[in-house]
Amino acid sequence: MRRNGEMKLGLFSVQAGQNEGAWLDPSVPASGGVDVDHFAHLTTLAEGAAFHFVFVPDSPSVIDPDSATIARVSRNDGFEPITLLSALSSRTQNIGLVATATTTYWQPFHLARMFASLDYLSRGRAGWNIVTSGFRFEAANFGEEELPDHDTRYSRAREFVDVVKGLWDTWEDDAFIRDKKSGIFVDTSKLHLLEHRGKYLSVKGPLNTARPPQGYPVLVQAGASDAGIAFGAEVGEVVFTAEPLLENGKRYYAILKEKARALGREDDQVLVMPGIVPIVGRTKQEASEKLQKLQSYTHIDVLMGAANRSLGFVTDLHSIDLDSLVPETLPKTNLTQSRQKVLLDLAVRQKLTWRQLIRFISDSKGHLMVVGTPDEVASAMVDTFEQRAADGFNVMPATYPGGLKDFVEFVVPELRRLGKFRSRYSGQTLRENLGLKRPPNRFAQVNVGSDA
Ligand SMILES: Cc1cc2nc3c(=O)[nH]c(=O)nc-3n(C[C@H](O)[C@H](O)[C@H](O)COP(=O)(O)O)c2cc1C
Repeated sequence: MRRNGEMKLGLFSVQAGQNEGAWLDPSVPASGGVDVDHFAHLTTLAEGAAFHFVFVPDSPSVIDPDSATIARVSRNDGFEPITLLSALSSRTQNIGLVATATTTYWQPFHLARMFASLDYLSRGRAGWNIVTSGFRFEAANFGEEELPDHDTRYSRAREFVDVVKGLWDTWEDDAFIRDKKSGIFVDTSKLHLLEHRGKYLSVKGPLNTARPPQGYPVLVQAGASDAGIAFGAEVGEVVFTAEPLLENGKRYYAILKEKARALGREDDQVLVMPGIVPIVGRTKQEASEKLQKLQSYTHIDVLMGAANRSLGFVTDLHSIDLDSLVPETLPKTNLTQSRQKVLLDLAVRQKLTWRQLIRFISDSKGHLMVVGTPDEVASAMVDTFEQRAADGFNVMPATYPGGLKDFVEFVVPELRRLGKFRSRYSGQTLRENLGLKRPPNRFAQVNVGSDA
């Protein structure tokens, strides 16, 4: 199994930080969510440290169930990701720009065009986090009462991604000759209509933007249920995951790579990147105090809202004894099935009470959280990397910008000292930086075959 010795790093970029209480910390700007300078600051910090990309999550809805929670969370005050990253493309040079967009409620033509534009604006640094909508309130914003069921969402996603790739291929790479002498702008023998008619979508094409600089922007996915892993292994070039337990992370990594291999994909073309929430102090005590301070900000309504969401709204948390142990199973959810499983596995393994689990969700959303010295954070990352539970990490600082500064200033040098992280960019495009191949054009390939 080929793999170079260095890990990949992405920055999970949200307005205040991964901790639910982050926006209340005096160091965090409360209006950061709609302040482009705030995001530019975070992104240039990450770029200065040679992070591979900045990633912006999204849901086209609020994600909390009631006004008691909505009143106390900062996340409903943010930018649409492609718009934000388009602005950041002109304020950065090297870092990849990965935006989330859902296949359940977008149209593929819109998305293909917007990501092609982002790829041009950034000179080949765009990536698309392909999600299928796991938040129940999205449905009502698009004329539906409920989300389509989990398998249907993945089935549509498969067709959707194929259509988007097909649209990016409608112009061969060298179709636009723009020749003033002959007056021919485009060689139409290199134009291919898509003419797609499928179960969910009908799209004729072509796109009215040339093939993106990277061929396709980098495709990111985070499926973790059976349907999700199958989809991730098929289309994901970067696969995000949430896994606080090393053994489970190793299992996920092995399964995903095995499934990708069975589809003829090479191991180094599918990069597994779990999240990590680093809370860094000069001593472990100092790091623990930082966490405790954040925890002291978090209101019970916020704790309950985050837990309900992560567990898929399957139990009435207000009626349970918070000091009782979390059970081994809960009713199945149509929302994010795998996150519920990750959290239950952890609770059972560590014999957590509801109170402890709810607190962990608020602090980390189910990702690996390491509270300690730079050396301890770096060792946990290297261990996870070397034991093949990760090819890199989505870094999720608890607060912005402070938690990111701590990571860049103290943990990144430690990773470099251990020979596990680079100090400069190795290419211009996100693909080059991640070591991902540029995909061939499906139509151009057909032409080569038919000419022969
Ligand atoms: C790091 C990470 C980031 C994610 N970002 C988003 C997001 O921005 N929007 C979204 O709807 N889902 C997001 N998800 C959820 C995934 O798309 C997916 O639904 C989830 O991992 C569960 O997979 P499953 O549907 O196969 O159970 C993210 C997941 C991870 C691990």
